Amino acid sequence: MARLRVGVLVSGKGRGTNLQALIDARERGELGADLVLVVSTSAEAGALERARKHSLEALFVDPKQFATAEELDLALAQTMEQRQVGLICLAGYMRMLTATLIRRFPNRIMNIHPALLPAFGGKGMYGHHVHEAVIASGAKYTGVTVHFADEEYDHGPIALQKVVEVLPDDDADSLAARVLREEHKLYARAVHLFAEGRLQVEDRRVRILPSAP
Ligand code: GRF
Repeated sequence: MARLRVGVLVSGKGRGTNLQALIDARERGELGADLVLVVSTSAEAGALERARKHSLEALFVDPKQFATAEELDLALAQTMEQRQVGLICLAGYMRMLTATLIRRFPNRIMNIHPALLPAFGGKGMYGHHVHEAVIASGAKYTGVTVHFADEEYDHGPIALQKVVEVLPDDDADSLAARVLREEHKLYARAVHLFAEGRLQVEDRRVRILPSAP
């Protein structure tokens, strides 16, 4: 079977630490897939810099060149298709995906979210807002979710989750840092499972199949 080819999509000024975690897993031989390109809708994304450093193709796609979100998504889909990408990983991509992209990559787009969905997700729940909301709620546990993307923010079938305890003295920064460490491990694991064909989506549930004997 051909090796899975992964494309990473980022936006904003993303630090790119999740991309880095995927690169590192790949370099350790733990990803089970090849990273082929990083596309950013911001020229300043730290992720582009990281990609170049590791000799990955790094592309800036300027959203201003497109009249609609659908046109942008068509260009993104075509860029990924031209490179035979089998899985798109969103890593700090804040734009809403349209059906144009999702229908061309059904259950082949993953997102990582720094909380346990369906709690603390949806519009406006990104970055520090998530951790601030978790602390304000008094929740004792938060975590990380890797899910397949659909046409709603933070909504598609959940592939993997990891629980992180909220400590009594946590502020948004300390909590974010502990959650981020778990993000890095969970994303690489999710890609690996996907690459092995072990994530089976059944409606909203994702079954994790045992490894082949
Ligand atoms: C991460 O917290 C991720 O969960 C969210 O966006 C952030 C991206 O961080 N979707 P980084 O750019 O990968 O460091």
